[in-house]
Amino acid sequence: MNQSSESRYAPGYAATLLTLGAAAIHFAAAPEHLSEYLLYGIFFVLLGAAQVALAVALVVAPSRRLYRGALIGTLAVIGIWLMSRTTGLPIAPIPWRPEAIAFPDFAATLLEAIACLVFLVRLWRRPPRRRGRVRVVLTTLPAALFAPLIAFGGVGGALSPMPAAYNTAPFVAGQTSTSVVDLVAPDGNQPLKEFTLTAATTTVGGRTAWAYNGTVPGPELRVRQGDRVKVILINHLPAATSIHWHGINVPNEMDGVAGITQDAVAPGGFFVYEFIANEPGTYWYHSHQDTMNQVPRGLFGSLVVEPNGSTPTARDYTLMIHALPNSDAVAVNGSGNLHLEANPGDTVRLRLIDAISAMDFGPTGTVQMPVLIGAPYTVAALDGHDLNQAQPLGPARIPLGMGQRADLVFTMPSAGAVRLVGIRGIAPFPWSRPAAASVTIGDGPVPAANVSSLPTFDLTRYGVAAPDPLLDATRFDVTRQIVLAGGGAMFRNGNFEFADTFNGQASPLIQPINVRLGDLVRLHIVNRSRATHPIHIHGHIFSVLTKNGRKITGSPVHLDAILVGPGDSWDVGFVADNPGIWMLHCHVLVHAAGGMSMTINYDGIYTPFTMGTASGNIPE
Ligand code: C2O
Ligand code: CU
Repeated sequence: MNQSSESRYAPGYAATLLTLGAAAIHFAAAPEHLSEYLLYGIFFVLLGAAQVALAVALVVAPSRRLYRGALIGTLAVIGIWLMSRTTGLPIAPIPWRPEAIAFPDFAATLLEAIACLVFLVRLWRRPPRRRGRVRVVLTTLPAALFAPLIAFGGVGGALSPMPAAYNTAPFVAGQTSTSVVDLVAPDGNQPLKEFTLTAATTTVGGRTAWAYNGTVPGPELRVRQGDRVKVILINHLPAATSIHWHGINVPNEMDGVAGITQDAVAPGGFFVYEFIANEPGTYWYHSHQDTMNQVPRGLFGSLVVEPNGSTPTARDYTLMIHALPNSDAVAVNGSGNLHLEANPGDTVRLRLIDAISAMDFGPTGTVQMPVLIGAPYTVAALDGHDLNQAQPLGPARIPLGMGQRADLVFTMPSAGAVRLVGIRGIAPFPWSRPAAASVTIGDGPVPAANVSSLPTFDLTRYGVAAPDPLLDATRFDVTRQIVLAGGGAMFRNGNFEFADTFNGQASPLIQPINVRLGDLVRLHIVNRSRATHPIHIHGHIFSVLTKNGRKITGSPVHLDAILVGPGDSWDVGFVADNPGIWMLHCHVLVHAAGGMSMTINYDGIYTPFTMGTASGNIPE
């Protein structure tokens, strides 16, 4: 072998494919970077071009020098990437702030790292001038299969990034004039009830939790109908947060949705919520920033609005059903076996709230099936709204999806205790029994019952029919079908994932429902998935109209979350009487984050807030 042949190499197809894959991902990511930060955009275009040039040179003019240059250059690119993800870069939209790793940049780096290995091997070994066909195919095949696959994922992810700044209802000159921040409670001299909720990291039962005022659930807020409620949220968490008042029709600015009605409150910051508690009932509050993670960590509590002019029930208890932070266990008000005081003859009201279950993946999805053993009871209210002439039930299981509430009222028997059972967590293993929780009211024995054989409460024929403006409406101004589906594979937020969808679309790109003040709106919700979805509306109350095409026959039912089982369809109506930009989403938090989330936009209203990487607002 002489001097001149030493520097001549056979074409390096594997390295070429790997480098082209990385180039494709860089080109795909360039437009997003160009709009976000010009210098990054230019860098990505130049880098992609350099990698294409390298790929061509590796085929047409391979040499030892080229391999050496390719190795050094590619290592430098990997080095810059590592730096941007760890210490941050000096030249960046925010200098020296590390960026998050997403699939596309991971994919490009993986391709580059493997290309570097190929370069090294080539530099190390004596270069054969010619290689047999079989050898070429065998050494190229792995890269030929692997590089396009990874590049496909990387390019798809890069073309559908987590939006930098997504606005659900942007300002449009001549069309929108009222900002959500101007939609506040009117002045007045209502009795003022003031609370402070400090969100901070704490320990609950030996496990780390995020909590309001140090407890999970957070403190119960009890007010009277007509009160002006003022809550100061102080954020001592390591992350931004917010509070949403679930089920209460607050003015839009007070709705607590990060990226739509406010910016999430930064660590060290505070926010003052103020609204008038017009409707009595059982409600709750929870974080609406990064909801999927913050609520399970413990950021939730109950809110009760007592009716004006009524004599209080002898025993009025709020029971929050929830997963214990960082565990499979289920609890009621933080305990697996709560005991409540009551004497024979007492009237007892149990306000059940299904706040957050850990059982996201079970066959019944997220539905709790609480049942009261030991006394007949009425379902006095659902989602805080009274039912007309509720009749006593024998034991019947009450389906409660996440976010839903049921008020059970009964009289304590002359002897023995009453027990609430049927509350389940998840089984740690397929063969083990799921964790359970119960609540015992009063003292003494409780009759035995085979819970799983008990009938299920049916809200479509309970109580007595009564006039209802939506049930009786003959025409609606806006009608919209929402088809629920799960598991559709799509590129979303920079990844390839199995999204949960409304009408085949995933948030934030679902077409909003546009309404005008005063519109009667009808939603036809169809579930084509195998899970049960509690579909929750902000700022409004649904009237339940039909289930599977049949009109309900019992009491009018008013809900803020409708539980839609697999294969079922429900029609609900509401009056558009609360201007703003309002969320409509599945309350299974992983489904909402997985795509089942949209907005109802009032004519003429815009939001100055955006969700996405620029603001850090993640409503779900
Ligand atoms: Cu309880 Cu948008 O949620
Ligand atoms: Cu769902």
